[in-house]
Amino acid sequence: MAKERFTLFTVYAVLVAALGGFLYGYHIAAISGALLFIAEQFTLTSSQEGTLVSLLLLGSLFGALCSGALADRVGRKPALLLTAAIFIGGTGIVYLATSFSTLMYGRAILGFAIGLVSLLVPLYLAEISPPHSRGAFVSINQLAITIGILIAYFVNYLYADTGNWRMMFAWGMAPALLQIIGGIFLPETPSWLMANRQETAAIQAFTRLRRDREWKGCLTEMQHSASPRKDHGWKALLQSRFRFVLILGLCIATFQQITGINTVIFYAPKIFQVAGFSSASNAIFATVSIGIMNVVATALSVWLLDRLGRRPLLLFGVGGMIISLLVLSGAFFVQSSSIGLIAVISLMSYVACFGIGLGPITWLLLSEIYPLSIRGKAMTLAISLNSLANYVVSLVFLDLIGALGISWTFILFAGIGIIALGVIWRYVPETKGKRLEEIEKELIN
Ligand code: BGC
Repeated sequence: MAKERFTLFTVYAVLVAALGGFLYGYHIAAISGALLFIAEQFTLTSSQEGTLVSLLLLGSLFGALCSGALADRVGRKPALLLTAAIFIGGTGIVYLATSFSTLMYGRAILGFAIGLVSLLVPLYLAEISPPHSRGAFVSINQLAITIGILIAYFVNYLYADTGNWRMMFAWGMAPALLQIIGGIFLPETPSWLMANRQETAAIQAFTRLRRDREWKGCLTEMQHSASPRKDHGWKALLQSRFRFVLILGLCIATFQQITGINTVIFYAPKIFQVAGFSSASNAIFATVSIGIMNVVATALSVWLLDRLGRRPLLLFGVGGMIISLLVLSGAFFVQSSSIGLIAVISLMSYVACFGIGLGPITWLLLSEIYPLSIRGKAMTLAISLNSLANYVVSLVFLDLIGALGISWTFILFAGIGIIALGVIWRYVPETKGKRLEEIEKELIN
């Protein structure tokens, strides 16, 4: 198959859509710096603090549940723009909140928007990308998430002196506004247009997104894969021909969370303090280094995905996460004297391996392996499970440490990693360089 060549306009569309990923990362991380000051101003109990943090994740579960239906019904582009508007609304409420309950509403709305973008951005990116660049383009979403997290740490730091937590959130309005303005010019995805019988508009979209006419051959395939075979309802997911891809996607989405990534992203300063970093500022410095490592490793993965393929990077990434977790728990077990150093190195390598593998490739595979006729609904299910797993892990992590101790908790995550490795090795297909329609033909009989 000849390579389809994208235009500069495709790059523009990718960057504007990826602002959704940035907003995701920004809002999950902004609370970490703001919480201290909010708790002081509203004199919150620790359980109220916990609710404020976890409400975002719960909201995202509801957003994820609605996301596929929204994307299928109104189209990918309007859904993205609507979500940016919801981000602005949620941020406005948080910014102006004068009571704890208003703050909670704002956080729940922001969580809802996060759930929506977690499906909409990878879906949109996968559907506008040419096959040979799809790995990189879809993974720009994960890169944007990691940059969003890092910028939020930085903004938190800027306002830490004055304790201006409202501004910590307010900066999140800028990318959402930018996305609405830039988004006006975005095209709808050709797949959605074909699935909705708008062939002329699909051809126009392709003409703006490609420098050649290689895409012509796939119009019929697209029409075929979206043709009404009475499998567009939720019941379609139960058909035996979809069983393999459905279960595979659910497993990957869950593994991304239950191998423990957010325990490190959210609790790194705590882990470092247990490892003997006495000053809070050292612990925060180490946390920022983890954020930087996450960005760098993800950028490397974006570069490598369409060269090496998904499988090798995923296997390498999960393998590396397991080793890092075992080293970390080993150091806590033997109470090694250089435990602080080992903790920093092993958490860095853990995050780097996540950034190369499960971070970007989860979203990528979820946008690739489902046939167009069930894509919205199957992604909805997988991403909702991802949000739910994120919520549960964040909720129980501190209790797990209390019950099992830090070493056994990380060994538990390593054990889950070993199961994930086995499933990936045995079942994950290589999708590099293939059209979505080709992948569909190979995976569904
Ligand atoms: C995960 C998030 C995580 C982030 C860290 C995302 O892919 O879904 O839960 O916080 O990566 O980079």
